[in-house]
Amino acid sequence: MKILIIGSGGREHALVYRLAAGGHEILCAPGNPGIEQLARCMPVKIDELDQIVELAQFERPDLVVVGPEAPLVAGLADRLRAAGVPTFGPGAAGAQLEGSKAFSKDFFARHRIPTAPFAVVTTVAEADEAIERIGGGTGRVVVKADGLAAGKGVVVAEDAAEAQAAAREMLEARRFGEAGARVIVEKRIVGREVSVLALTDGTRLEVLPSAEDHKTIFDGDTGPNTGGMGTVSPSWASDELLGRITSEILQPTVTGLMKDGIGYRGVLYAGVMVDAAATPWLLEYNCRFGDPETQPIMARMRGDFGAVLLGAAKGEMPVGSLAWDARVAVCVVVAAAGYPGAVRTGDPIVGLDTAGDDAVVFHAGTARKDGTVVSAGGRVLGVTALGVSVEQARQKAYGVADRIELAGKQVRRDIGARARL
Ligand code: GLY
Repeated sequence: MKILIIGSGGREHALVYRLAAGGHEILCAPGNPGIEQLARCMPVKIDELDQIVELAQFERPDLVVVGPEAPLVAGLADRLRAAGVPTFGPGAAGAQLEGSKAFSKDFFARHRIPTAPFAVVTTVAEADEAIERIGGGTGRVVVKADGLAAGKGVVVAEDAAEAQAAAREMLEARRFGEAGARVIVEKRIVGREVSVLALTDGTRLEVLPSAEDHKTIFDGDTGPNTGGMGTVSPSWASDELLGRITSEILQPTVTGLMKDGIGYRGVLYAGVMVDAAATPWLLEYNCRFGDPETQPIMARMRGDFGAVLLGAAKGEMPVGSLAWDARVAVCVVVAAAGYPGAVRTGDPIVGLDTAGDDAVVFHAGTARKDGTVVSAGGRVLGVTALGVSVEQARQKAYGVADRIELAGKQVRRDIGARARL
């Protein structure tokens, strides 16, 4: 099968890696220096929707897989389908689950999907009232910009002053532009988070093994949030808990999408908080594969992933055909100096070929300059290793990450170190 992947990050490299291993011919737009080794890369950017559609019409792939959320929210999958190209990824209507938090919270409430109490506000006065009411006077709430904000639009406030300042930054200073014209104030649920990704063709579900992300930049879950500094899959979540997440969150979502007349062919990536009573609460949906959750998931996946994605794209997804390596996978992100703030780019990366058979180095933010691979983003690499235990997978991943030379590199040392319960 000929498959076109849209995107250029670690998630897309991991998807290309698994699909290429399945014997498929892979094209990627725009790709990166790691992807180039497995696929024919095309210099078309993810926001150039006309050119992507033109590329798909020219190359006539059997399947297009759209990686990032922005082109999905902008309707790329609708346009590709209208051009007759089978596409894995929701249309603009379904992508609102990630593109508008006000839409998604309203969807969860209407379809009785367990989620934290919330209010949608458009003025500072409404925000202050909601912070007081929902925080029960403590101000310990979560403040979220409605639209896409490159992973930076969520503030977990410790007190009312922090929550009010976050709401003002979004509503008045328009830190995230129109994405912050509406703000969600939500009750803070304390617990442990798990990422659960499921493939769907609009009616069927294929729930993938769960993953645990490590969101903050520093060890011990401290410092500012990032896109994710490392992941472990499978996660600490028990089969019983995953069964509840499937029956209480994922299945009602598919049913709700059908009731609302939204055809959804793609990934439902649920960010779930599990509280002290072991109750799962849906924090948010993403309408695409998680990054870096996808890296360990792809490292463990066996079976014909291409056939499952094509089936989902055509509304006839086979369920239960994927198999999984019994080992655990750990992904350790190598980030650039300055991340998650202003990052330094253009630094040469040395040691990319030292992974051996034990690990895969997925490129996330790299570019080629004068024949050398250099850093080109905040998260630069995702070193992913399999092990018979989390400890062994960690040792392998850190062994490779430590051999990679990148000036000022940042690597969290505690990926996978938390108890697995
Ligand atoms: N790992 C977080 C995300 O993909 O949004």
